[in-house]
Amino acid sequence: MSSLAAQRDATLTGVTFTADAIRLDRVTKIYGEGEAATIAVDEVSCGILRGSWTAVMGASGHGKSTLLQLMGGLDRPSAGTVVLDGIEITALRPVELAKVRARKLGFVFQFFNLLPHLTAVENVGLALWFGGRNGGASAASAVALLDRVGLADKAHHLPSMLSGGQQQRVAIARALANDPALLLMDEPTGNLDSTAEAEMLGLLNGLHRDEGRTIVVVTHSDEVARHAERVIYVRDGRITSGALC
Ligand SMILES: Nc1ncnc2c1ncn2[C@@H]1O[C@H](COP(=O)(O)OP(=O)(O)O)[C@@H](O)[C@H]1O
Ligand SMILES: [Mg+2]
Repeated sequence: MSSLAAQRDATLTGVTFTADAIRLDRVTKIYGEGEAATIAVDEVSCGILRGSWTAVMGASGHGKSTLLQLMGGLDRPSAGTVVLDGIEITALRPVELAKVRARKLGFVFQFFNLLPHLTAVENVGLALWFGGRNGGASAASAVALLDRVGLADKAHHLPSMLSGGQQQRVAIARALANDPALLLMDEPTGNLDSTAEAEMLGLLNGLHRDEGRTIVVVTHSDEVARHAERVIYVRDGRITSGALC
């Protein structure tokens, strides 16, 4: 742990409280082997403060999505450690890791990843069910979550009947299913027009400012970055500026 990181931790009556929602320590991700190996993330160390809103920016192919997936334990690093809310997730077995993920974080994928044969409310309901809610309660909660993102009237639409922005909002409702303190989003305003982007920003503002959730959002949008408290720039798999280490 770096001395700066140590300074942000306080030990109270033997229980270590960490100010970081996420901490990465010398995290590397290499895809492929030998000649075909790609270093997608290259020895990155950084902390994401609890309750903060961070934007991750950088050109295509420089490792932003990989970094976000490593932060959320959706992918395992080739080297280094990832600590999520005080738990070193890189040391966990897959079943334990899945439980920590389900409890602590919501992830919004770059391409939504909605199940095409399920309606909006079924997509959200499935996430509630995975989180341990029973059927009746989850149907009502799924509609409430869709209402939260302004889509209650589209509850019974299939993803193919929704616009890109609407699908993205279903993905956000799904990510909120287990009321996560931490939201990781990969380009949630990509391909949205400026009106839809403004709506999305209003939603993110509420989730962060009013509800105190920690948000990390990969984005190409200067407007989204302008709303963030901190902007991390990624280039060639490394953080070139903005990191808190
Ligand atoms: N599953 C994968 N298998 C092999 N290479 C990958 C995979 N995912 C990403 N990469 C490579 O890793 C690098 C970083 O990709 P990515 O994290 O998607 O960047 P970004 O999100 O900034 O566009 C790129 O060279 C990409 O081709
Ligand atoms: Mg990406």
